[in-house]
Amino acid sequence: MIRGISLRVNGVAYNLHIQDHWTLLDVLRAHLGLTGAKKGCDSGVCGACSVHIDGGLALACLTLAAECEGCEVTTVEGLARSPHELHPLQASFVFYGATQCGICTPGMLMAAKALYDRDPRPTREAIHDAVGGNICRCTGYAKIVRAIEHAHVFEASRLLDPKALMQAQGEEAELLAEESR
Ligand code: FES
Ligand code: FES
Repeated sequence: MIRGISLRVNGVAYNLHIQDHWTLLDVLRAHLGLTGAKKGCDSGVCGACSVHIDGGLALACLTLAAECEGCEVTTVEGLARSPHELHPLQASFVFYGATQCGICTPGMLMAAKALYDRDPRPTREAIHDAVGGNICRCTGYAKIVRAIEHAHVFEASRLLDPKALMQAQGEEAELLAEESR
């Protein structure tokens, strides 16, 4: 059955006509062109499709779009604070090289953001718990955990500016990394 739903995604209001069986993940990717959330397993195992629904972490592949009537959905595309200001987690992931192929990265970031919102200086144990449902097939877990652990260092930093962050890669980045250890 086709039904109409209204929801907000990354602060933008949408009125959509959807089939009852369509998942939120398919609506985001195929109908709204938001391909940040990835379709890994499509069965709730890998975490690659992680988004926030009304501020809570959710798997978009296990969520029917019809359930999102009236909801506020945030995807990785809505994570940056502005076009000129990354979220500290994004800056930290870049800074510490916490991405390899990048397939898991959007889901990792959204899972990490759920933790960061509760506790910007989490313990390693809390980080392991927070991203325990997210699989990185490149096995880059050490850098991912380190990036989450140090994300708070980037709050109010000039390195939230994507240009400044890219320029800082190299010698200066090494120095800053030393300081943040
Ligand atoms: S695609 Fe949703 S958990 Fe794997
Ligand atoms: S960076 Fe490749 S799956 Fe994690």
